[in-house]
Amino acid sequence: MERAVNESRVTALEASVHRALAGATITEKALDLCPEVRLHLMGSGNMQRRFSAEETRAILAHPPYWALCWASGQALAWHVLRNKSLVRGKRILDFGAGSGVVAIAAAMGGAARVIACDHDPDAIAAIRANAALNKVQVETCRSLDDLSVEIDLILAADVFYDRENYYFLHKFLELAPEILVADSRIKVIEVSPYRRVTEITTSTIPDLDEYDEFKRVGIYRAFTGKHVNLWQYCKEEACSYKELLAQSGDSM
Ligand SMILES: C[S@@+](CC[C@H](N)C(=O)[O-])C[C@H]1O[C@@H](n2cnc3c(N)ncnc32)[C@H](O)[C@@H]1O
Repeated sequence: MERAVNESRVTALEASVHRALAGATITEKALDLCPEVRLHLMGSGNMQRRFSAEETRAILAHPPYWALCWASGQALAWHVLRNKSLVRGKRILDFGAGSGVVAIAAAMGGAARVIACDHDPDAIAAIRANAALNKVQVETCRSLDDLSVEIDLILAADVFYDRENYYFLHKFLELAPEILVADSRIKVIEVSPYRRVTEITTSTIPDLDEYDEFKRVGIYRAFTGKHVNLWQYCKEEACSYKELLAQSGDSM
């Protein structure tokens, strides 16, 4: 029964991906960095080649971002799964969720509630299929305006390829006390109080044969310091209370 349900999900996802790329397949894959997460992703056969002009137009008209696990998504999922205290017991929003990879990692990490937001309806179908595949609960929404829940932590991987999305760096600070952003395209986030906390090297699945620089993913953390337990945060981050307040823009 479960197998039949999964097969029909794959067929539906394949029908969506064919709007962008005829002949593309959807297969179940374990992530290289965190194999405990499995996703329905585009097969690799069709990707490392030159696309015709017609194919390029179709891909741009219906970009199936959700059919790939982007390097930043894989890096942030790994970071969350290796540092579960970041998400444990929290209400999490994964913005620009695509396949839902980061949302799924947060749910596996013990989040109290996980909401994956993506404006693409095909991504919403993929997130639901991938959550079911990993046997975790992930709610979905199409826009931040649909959120009716307070959020403790926003996660966002590879959403700043579109400069119009830079606005969300500010918007996130109004919505949640903590934000974690993963991105390989921007090298510095100049918006305060985001700061780079680590770098993780990994690839997009399927492999797009990207330049090495796009495999180096920066993880940025912003902490507004307004709503959370500051002493707990200091302990986790090994920083002093004074440093913390300086970082969050408050004064002692
Ligand atoms: C490159 S994909 C990254 C997907 C996933 N986070 C990952 O790293 O694998 C970017 C995703 O963000 C979504 N997205 C971009 N702008 C958005 C917006 N303004 N609101 C909601 N979703 C958005 C796209 O539809 C797409 O699924």
